[in-house]
Amino acid sequence: MQDSFIEQTVTFVKERLQHAESGHDWWHIQRVWNNTKLLLETESADRMVCELTALLHDIADSKFHDGDEEIGPRIAGEFLTRIGVEKEIVEHVQNIILHMSFKASLGKVTFHSKELEVVQDADRLDAIGAIGVARAFNYGGYKNREIYNPDIPVDQHLTKESYKNTQAPTINHFYEKLLLLRDKMNTAAGKKIANSRHQFMESFLQQFYGEWNGER
Ligand code: ADP
Ligand code: NI
Repeated sequence: MQDSFIEQTVTFVKERLQHAESGHDWWHIQRVWNNTKLLLETESADRMVCELTALLHDIADSKFHDGDEEIGPRIAGEFLTRIGVEKEIVEHVQNIILHMSFKASLGKVTFHSKELEVVQDADRLDAIGAIGVARAFNYGGYKNREIYNPDIPVDQHLTKESYKNTQAPTINHFYEKLLLLRDKMNTAAGKKIANSRHQFMESFLQQFYGEWNGER
């Protein structure tokens, strides 16, 4: 029964994300799902809730729906109810989706659970390391941003409101978000993996500045 819920959800999500932008396409979902399973090897949390949330967490991005933060949880909830998942699990999944985004975490946090910790870590792991670098430059290119501009300070501070409105170069995104994620990890397993991915980004940046300045 449980496996059938997962299978049906995979089919639903793949179908819905067919034309999604590449930052949140099926491959992002698959990586977050894999990260979730990896974390669950050592973290104890409800497997069903974690896996379903990993699969459904980016089903509808509020960015593309006039900032409607409820649309993702609503679509996820309707789907899970339709396939017969019990109410308690449906509501838990919806609560996690609503509260787990980086943007939500900049505001007042009102919901908490072990399962949220696991899936949020799994999602954050996909924003750092080599994949994180690739996703950031992909996003920056999509927005036609400069990769780097030495005249623009990298340490400007962003609020929840200004976060999406900046036209800063992509390197700035490392300082406003990517390099901060390591210290925001919830679980022991997540922290450990984040550590090595963080180090990779540090050495990427070192190499980047070296090449930028024409060093050998
Ligand atoms: P999340 O799915 O974690 O809420 P976003 O929707 O903000 O993240 O971003 C999706 C991907 O695009 C992430 O890998 C993120 O780091 C990257 N991204 C978001 N904003 C920027 C930006 N201003 N510059 C470069 N990359 C960005
Ligand atoms: Ni995500």
